[in-house]
Amino acid sequence: MKARDFARRRQQLMRQMGDGGIAILPAAPERQRNRDVNHPYRQHSDFLYLTGLSEPEAVAVLMPGRPQGEYLLFCRERNSEMETWHGRRTGLEGACDRYGADDAFPINDVDDILPRLLENTERVYATMGSDPAFDRRLLDWVNRVRDKSRAGVTAPVEFIDLDHLLHEMRLIKSPAELRLMRKAAAISAEAHIRAMRVCRPGLNELDLEAELQHAFATGGARHSAYPSIVGGGANACILHYTENASRLRKGDLVLIDAGAEVEGYAADITRTFPVGQRYSRAQRAIYELVLEAQQAAIEMVRPGNQWNAPHDAAVEVLATGLVELGLLKGRPRTVINKGTYRRFYMHRTGHWLGLDVHDVGDYKVGGEWRVLEPGMTLTIEPGLYLPAGEKGVGPRWADIGVRIEDDVLVTTKGHEVLTAATPKSVNAIEALRSRN
Ligand code: GLY
Ligand code: MN
Ligand code: MN
Repeated sequence: MKARDFARRRQQLMRQMGDGGIAILPAAPERQRNRDVNHPYRQHSDFLYLTGLSEPEAVAVLMPGRPQGEYLLFCRERNSEMETWHGRRTGLEGACDRYGADDAFPINDVDDILPRLLENTERVYATMGSDPAFDRRLLDWVNRVRDKSRAGVTAPVEFIDLDHLLHEMRLIKSPAELRLMRKAAAISAEAHIRAMRVCRPGLNELDLEAELQHAFATGGARHSAYPSIVGGGANACILHYTENASRLRKGDLVLIDAGAEVEGYAADITRTFPVGQRYSRAQRAIYELVLEAQQAAIEMVRPGNQWNAPHDAAVEVLATGLVELGLLKGRPRTVINKGTYRRFYMHRTGHWLGLDVHDVGDYKVGGEWRVLEPGMTLTIEPGLYLPAGEKGVGPRWADIGVRIEDDVLVTTKGHEVLTAATPKSVNAIEALRSRN
């Protein structure tokens, strides 16, 4: 992503805010893992989207129409001792030269300078509620402006949720964003292929997680977009299983849900394959049913269709198949209307994908499911989960858990599957599995 891409986004946001508005966004705080060790730092996606800066202790300010400069960044100053211990800092000069700020100030001065910037503005655009400590500071700055009212200073009178404007922008991906998402998808596809190649009975789930991580790193992605799920056998039926600590057994399936993050952009892929070389008949029946549901759902991804069309298509296929296989009784229509399929398919068919793996953007507009538009990216990820002991799950089906997940871009003509390089037909997967 280039500096001009971030500048374009700021311009687009400022055009919508209009003169008299001020947007204020904090960087994500660092989070402690234990004592003096922090979690790896991840910038807040909104802040990253507008600034490109991946440092904590920063505040971005946008003031459309301000003659002395519209884009101000508060950040950490250069400090050779701190940098020797903790790593390089962008500093004030870097904020202007590399990140395009019109002016930059030390973060330590933010309590003095921000109230002055708020003077005589009309509307404050901020994301309220996600960082309560920052919300309190913002109110404190505004109160300090209000205290000056007798001196003729006016304080902003309107607080507007920045989320809405910003998240509508984030929902439609630019060509530059799609390049990064394609890269994340390609690295993740390689990682899944690697896991399919090296898997064998007796390995631990953690061994496969290590393979994924290795492929992400050598592919150029330092971080995964979310903790990888590697669930063998019954563990595949735990939707957000992340222990990844069991031995993989011949005869079981293993479900891997893993994606790389590239410059903040996520891939999110799930594949389910045999720990041995072949799917059993029962596993194959469930797998092919989920695959058919996924293909039906992907077909529904095109401009003009509503958000729920892919989900409805997947449910239709799954409900029909569950009745045919004898896992549910009654007519498919009744199974759908009564929602009994939810016993085996309890999640939705996808979500927006972008800087956040569960990305921002409303799913409903004016009470109606949103209409898909070119540039939107989403996942399509139906599954079936048949844990032993669940009503209607006989021994034949016990502990089969299957999910198949791809990342899909809405194009002007229909869709493009960004993760299509990850094998998913039974034949393609068994061919890979037979090589070891
Ligand atoms: N990996 C999280 C999800 O599939 O939604
Ligand atoms: Mn997903
Ligand atoms: Mn996933």
